[in-house]
Amino acid sequence: GTEKLRSRMLALNRDAARYYYSVLQSPEGAAVQAYLDKRRIRRGIAVRFGMGAAPDSWDALLTAMTHKGYTKQELISAGLAVNGKNGRLYDKFRNRLMLPVIDVRGDVVGFGSRVLDKSEPKYMNTPETLTYSKRRILYGMNLAKKSKRSNIILCEGNLDVVTLHQAGFDNAVASMGTALTQEQLRLLSRYTKELVLCYDNDNAGQQATRRALELLNNSEFSVKVLQLPRRLVDGEYIKQDADDFIKFQGPAAFERLLTGSENGVEFRLDQIAGKYDLTDDTQRIAYAQEVSEELAKLENAVEREVYTTRAAQAAGLTPEAMRLEVERTLRRKL
Ligand code: UTP
Ligand code: MN
Ligand code: MN
Ligand code: MN
Ligand code: MN
Repeated sequence: GTEKLRSRMLALNRDAARYYYSVLQSPEGAAVQAYLDKRRIRRGIAVRFGMGAAPDSWDALLTAMTHKGYTKQELISAGLAVNGKNGRLYDKFRNRLMLPVIDVRGDVVGFGSRVLDKSEPKYMNTPETLTYSKRRILYGMNLAKKSKRSNIILCEGNLDVVTLHQAGFDNAVASMGTALTQEQLRLLSRYTKELVLCYDNDNAGQQATRRALELLNNSEFSVKVLQLPRRLVDGEYIKQDADDFIKFQGPAAFERLLTGSENGVEFRLDQIAGKYDLTDDTQRIAYAQEVSEELAKLENAVEREVYTTRAAQAAGLTPEAMRLEVERTLRRKL
């Protein structure tokens, strides 16, 4: 049955992870080790995450796993081998840093992987298989679930998680570039009721934050948004993610951002305020309308009142005017 197939897939994934791991410790893994050194990922952390190296070869894994008794069909089903046009099988992951994805039971359910240079695709992950469902998995959750910190930090990338753990933030997990799902929230809720969103500070990351906040709106979680500042380089502000920030600013600075992070409502109000010139009357009216849409989503009346006042102050409006606007929006939604 499916259960038997699934446990066979798990065994194959574990053996593949062991294989990649041993390659990284061997001379064949030198290029990947050099890449890890370049990114300042230390040996101990690489081991903790079970990192490995896929050789620069078309069939290294295929050969190793068929010798272990796995069939070609099993390798295809696990997403580790692909069928070529000529009917020949080849390894899906070649010349890459391998990042095993381990679930909370400790099973290797699939892999993330990164190229060592600028070629595309930068990241390649296991496709949907019997063991790997990207909607249900969070990279690093196997470690973060054991953290003594009370909250869990959600970021975008695998290497954000790695760098955060290395810096002492062992409560970090990543959705690996995909939008946060209800299934992932269910998983998270087994370990914490406090989330910190820490997505990249580019447009995609801001958009992802907004989406996540919508999913988390009126949920059982308390949510904070850790806003990474942009970095000033040669008079230009460039985007950063958690990994970049820790590299340039260090763990203590990240801890300060974590402490000072805003809640979801504050984040949204700031974002909306940033879109308008609040010294201009027409724009202030548009601001009040957009803000009232956001405030009307709050079910808690006290919370709504607190932020109505704050949003009014930000635009130099009276709290009464803003309150009327929010009430009008609320009535319209009934
Ligand atoms: P980013 O593009 O922000 O990558 O994508 P990153 O983690 O910062 O990459 P580097 O290594 O520092 O350059 C965030 C995450 O989205 C997924 C990966 O999980 C990545 O970590 N992703 C990204 C993919 O699955 N495929 C891609 O081609 C790119
Ligand atoms: Mn991104
Ligand atoms: Mn990004
Ligand atoms: Mn990055
Ligand atoms: Mn990134």
